[in-house]
Amino acid sequence: MKILMVCLGNICRSPLAEGIMRHLADAQGLNWQVDSAGTGNYHIGKKPDHRSIKVAKAHGIDISAQQARQFSVADFDSFDVIAVMDEQNYRDVMRLAENDSQREKVRLLIKNEIVPDPYYDDALFAPVYDLIEKNCVSLLAELKTQNR
Ligand code: 4NP
Repeated sequence: MKILMVCLGNICRSPLAEGIMRHLADAQGLNWQVDSAGTGNYHIGKKPDHRSIKVAKAHGIDISAQQARQFSVADFDSFDVIAVMDEQNYRDVMRLAENDSQREKVRLLIKNEIVPDPYYDDALFAPVYDLIEKNCVSLLAELKTQNR
């Protein structure tokens, strides 16, 4: 299974989702490939926001070596599932899709709910971490059943 986590900047939410999902998959001995990207280009090459690094570290996950990159059309072919954090991410990724098979790979990480952007609110990083973790657990379970 190859999963790409997507947000706007690839410095706050999707690096957490990448780190958490990789951690969960590794713990279950799954040989899954997990990566993340941003729809925007502002932060290319940067490491995750220090607040994301800190909250992940508090949960025993090191995301500090990650480097932001921008989502590209080639990602549709490189990944099985593209999990986006909010509706703007969804629209931005869907706009780049060229066919139905690419469109079918795109989903919100959380069905009918968004992962709020914590960039302008320090207090959001802890609840955003918990929300992403909870939903990575269910996405992993869902994809494992599908894969049987
Ligand atoms: P992210 O958060 O999409 O979770 O990485 C953001 C990071 C930076 C900006 C917006 C959201 N920004 O506008 O620079």
